[in-house]
Parts: sequence; C-alpha cells; structure tokens
Amino acid sequence: MAKYGVLIGSLREHSFSAGVAHGLVKGLPADAEVTYLEIGNLPFYNQDFDADSPASFTEFRAQVAAQDAFIMVTPEYNRGLPAVLKNALDIASRPWGESVWDGKAVLPVSQSISGIGGALANHTLRQTIEFLNMKIMTQPEMYIGNTASLSDDEGNITNEDTKKFLAGVASQFDTFVKNN
Ligand code: FNR
Repeated sequence: MAKYGVLIGSLREHSFSAGVAHGLVKGLPADAEVTYLEIGNLPFYNQDFDADSPASFTEFRAQVAAQDAFIMVTPEYNRGLPAVLKNALDIASRPWGESVWDGKAVLPVSQSISGIGGALANHTLRQTIEFLNMKIMTQPEMYIGNTASLSDDEGNITNEDTKKFLAGVASQFDTFVKNN
C-alpha cells in the first residue's frame, strides 16, 4: 500500500485541475492512502523562517514527509507555474539539506482550457521537481488540453475517454511507485 499526496495548483472552487486530480485518484488501487495536501493557506516562504519556522510550515513538511509519492496537477498561469504551488514546493524544500521531497516519486500533470494543455507550466514544474531530486514518471507526458470541454461546470471530468485515460495513467504511476 502506498501513500499518495495530491497537490493542486489552483485554489478555485470548481477547478478543472482538481477535477483532473480526482480522475487520477480514481485509478489508484483501493488500498492506496490518498491525502489532498492543503497549500492555499501557507504563508509565503521566507528564508528567515528556516531557523524558527511557523507551525504551518512544520506541519506541511511533516505531511509531505509522510507520503510515498505525489500527484501534482497544475494549471498554467501566464506561461508559468501558479505561485501557490511553487510556494509549497519551496517550503518543503528547506531548510537546506532537509528537503522532504528528496527521492520521492511524482507524477507531474498540467491542464488548460486551451489546446496546449499547460505544457509550459508542466515543464516549469518539471524543472523544479527534477532539481529537488524527485523520481519523475516522465511518460506519458500529461498535458490535458481543452479541459472545459471535457468537464462539467463544477470541474468534474465527464468525458469517458479522458476518465479512462486518467485512471490508466494513475494505475501506471502506482506500478512506477512500487518499482522505484
Ligand atoms: C490563465 N489561463 C492560462 N491558460 C493557458 O493555457 N496558459 C496561460 O498562460 C494561462 N494564464 C492564465 C493566467 C491566469 C492568472 C488565469 C486565472 C488563467 C487559463 C487557465 O488555463 C484556466 O483558467 C484554467 O481553468 C485554470 O485552472 P483551474 O483553476 O480550472 O484549475
């Protein structure tokens, strides 16, 4: 049984990114332990806090440390990564030498209401998680495009082919996690 942490790079109530994340989670084995990590209430990272971190940072780092693997689903904001997700990555990467991302498996996923599927945000995310020495499942590349047309107004994926695709990739990721 593996423990999965899910991070979503959008705080929007009816987020399509959240819908994609839920679609992926449905493909994990029934005994997988899944935790949606709350990142929207974390203060901005400040290196001055490394010596004496706020409780929210300490708790978040402990939550990250407790997971075996991560599913990260993000929209693209202005051709980059939303600040809320980058902030969470930075917080759990410090203090220097104590990163709790180190060596953990990760599935990076982007989505967009446009056709290019948030590819630039996906690669911005990859740049950081690679530096953090995470074990990235590099294929298939997960750029989910035209998400609005695949989802209902509440952000749930409704397209049957997309549902099957997401569940299949999650199952593949579970195998990757168990073999790495
Ligand atoms: C966007 N969007 C967007 N889309 C894209 O493909 N490339 C981009 O660079 C941007 N930039 C951007 C900036 C900001 C501030 C917003 C709010 C939106 C559109 C984006 O893909 C769309 O709003 C998604 O639905 C956002 O994801 P969630 O919130 O539905 O998960």
